Amino acid sequence: MQIHQTIAALRVARAKAGRVALVPTMGNLHEGHIALMTQARAHADQVIATIFVNRLQFHPGEDFEKYPRTFADDCAKLEAAGVEHLFAPDEAEMYPQPQGYHVEPPPDQAGVLDGEFRPGHFRGVATVVMKLFQIAQADVALFGKKDYQQLMVIRNMVREFNLPLEIVPGETVRAADGLALSSRNGYLSVDERAEAPRLYRVLTELAAAVRQGARNYAELEARAMNTLSSKGWAPDYVALRKMHDLQSPSAHDSGLVVLAAARLGSTRLIDNLEV
Ligand code: PAF
Repeated sequence: MQIHQTIAALRVARAKAGRVALVPTMGNLHEGHIALMTQARAHADQVIATIFVNRLQFHPGEDFEKYPRTFADDCAKLEAAGVEHLFAPDEAEMYPQPQGYHVEPPPDQAGVLDGEFRPGHFRGVATVVMKLFQIAQADVALFGKKDYQQLMVIRNMVREFNLPLEIVPGETVRAADGLALSSRNGYLSVDERAEAPRLYRVLTELAAAVRQGARNYAELEARAMNTLSSKGWAPDYVALRKMHDLQSPSAHDSGLVVLAAARLGSTRLIDNLEV
């Protein structure tokens, strides 16, 4: 695998790479990321993974400083997955001066759900992803459904800016007990890790109720939040939304997804399930 730390070096390699699939990450790679790399291979001649912990998408007080940085391990995993190129710039390469121009996703997409609890997060994500797209000039880019709202924001950005690449979603990869794989799972204590799969169970139960015909969405959401609270979680939201725009559904809408974010101890976990 070739490791490129500069935009110039990546561009030289990209020019010779044929059809390219891009998989942006912040590192600390797990099986969910590796599944995206494997999926990417089916779409392109060469795969470019990126590792960059993007300060712009963390707001003050979040875990930017302590976000796990495991570069050597990540490189070994990418090598084993057969990835051809890793773009791993430092902050000076990505932001040689403070970023003055930003991609501002509309508030109905980026100010709800996670955006409500993490102000500016999706602006930071959209801005760095736009930069990565301009740098890598990929034909296709892959993003996991675990970050469902992020996927929607990026898809809409690509459509509205007429960017010449295809966005391909990857399914969420889960541990045997149902917990969605996430770099932040590493923050959990042993007891918290044992409790963490409850988030997925709560979503599964809510989705099952909707599939069986329940339409009392507000009540179902409140019940799910109460279950989490009663087990020591601090839920930010459990919300049923329409898959395509993440707006609230009416009783006859189909194509729903239930999304949740909740804090367990000091770790904030998110998950979702298509209904
Ligand atoms: O999902 C992530 O890891 C990040 O939000 C991304 C897409 C790499 C942008 O920094």
